Amino acid sequence: TGHFTFDPGYTSTGSTESAITYIDGGKGTLLYRGYPIEQLADKSSFLEVAYLLLKGELPSKEEFDVFSDTVTRHTMLHQQMVKFFEGFRRDAHPMAIVCGAVGAMSAFYHDSTDITDPEQRTIASHRLIAKIPTIVAWAYKYSIGQPFVYPRNDLDYASNFLRMCFAVPAEDYEVSPTIAKAMDRIFTLHADHEQNASTSTVRLAGSSHANPFACIAAGVASLWGPAHGGANEACLQMLREIGTVDRIPEFVARAKDKSDPFRLMGFGHRVYKNFDPRATVMQQTAKEVLAELGVANNPTLQVAQELERIALEDEYFIEKKLYPNVDFYSGIILDAIGFPTEMFTAIFALARTVGWTSQWAEMIEDPKQKIGRPRQLYTGATSRDYVEISKR
Ligand code: CMC
Repeated sequence: TGHFTFDPGYTSTGSTESAITYIDGGKGTLLYRGYPIEQLADKSSFLEVAYLLLKGELPSKEEFDVFSDTVTRHTMLHQQMVKFFEGFRRDAHPMAIVCGAVGAMSAFYHDSTDITDPEQRTIASHRLIAKIPTIVAWAYKYSIGQPFVYPRNDLDYASNFLRMCFAVPAEDYEVSPTIAKAMDRIFTLHADHEQNASTSTVRLAGSSHANPFACIAAGVASLWGPAHGGANEACLQMLREIGTVDRIPEFVARAKDKSDPFRLMGFGHRVYKNFDPRATVMQQTAKEVLAELGVANNPTLQVAQELERIALEDEYFIEKKLYPNVDFYSGIILDAIGFPTEMFTAIFALARTVGWTSQWAEMIEDPKQKIGRPRQLYTGATSRDYVEISKR
């Protein structure tokens, strides 16, 4: 029934054409719509990056104001959504809540179901980008037993998110500009990364023309694993487990031992085989944030820096081209800001929602779009006759 290439893990399969994100893994280049990630992280804001990824061009001042205003008007969740949060066990992982709440949006915004209407597709993407910070913040508030904080539309995207996470009703809460800037930068660096596992999942789910909220929930599920977005949480847990600089060699030896499944979390990447440009920006941001918070001697940062130095000089890591990735430093920043490790991947999901919706929209608009339907190499039994249960 026709020829196909067997490619487990899709290491050499181009699944789509895309004009959104470009990566050169050898050179360590990452471009969003042609713009280098370093410039965007330095000069732009996450909401501007969101516009760029969705629409292909940087907005004019007027276009940005309209976009920002539109997204801001969608930040509130339907009040009935509160019941979804309250239905979870208190100790639920925030990713479980985010996956459920994003999927549940498909039952609230029926107009977005008509994906053949470009206007409805745009509204669906605005709703997702606007509501995901509220969903992620509320997953956190629920886990610590505090009342939900409603969005404040006069704040910028990152500040509003920080406030929804850390403000306690009836108390004043000031967002530090350095922390807000670092948060915004973390969002920008995670906004898109071409056809990674979660984005490919969103495209595959969406290729059947399923409801957009359900498709993004599928992306959240795929991101959760420790080999993908879950690495930031796993990385910080590992740094804490290492604890002190003198224990690093023991863990490096374990990572090299093929009979031990342990890997250095936050190291290695399928595409980057030289360095991860996002990690470079993240390392700098980590230093700024820790200095601002007066915790520059943070033991976790010390272990991270020493681990990076030792691994980069080790023959195993050099030979296998394993370098720190974006998640190696993002966890240290999020920890310093005050987020528990369980929140790290949910914050990644918040940022990547922009990439997922951009890629989803690009796919739906592509005239060559077809339902995704990989083939397989069958390894099971050959045809055989049914045997009655009494004769087995
Ligand atoms: N520690 C020790 N050895 C490693 C590591 C690591 N972190 N990563 C890869 N290797 C070894 C691996 O054992 C294999 O060795 P061998 O050739 O002897 O079998 C070789 O390097 C190639 O690894 P692979 O698993 O075949 O490579 P991959 O492209 O399938 O996997 C990866 C990429 C990111 C899943 C992997 O490097 C990994 O598990 N890293 C740790 C988890 C992590 O930090 N993930 C975050 C990725 S960046 C954020 C995101 O976009 O999600």
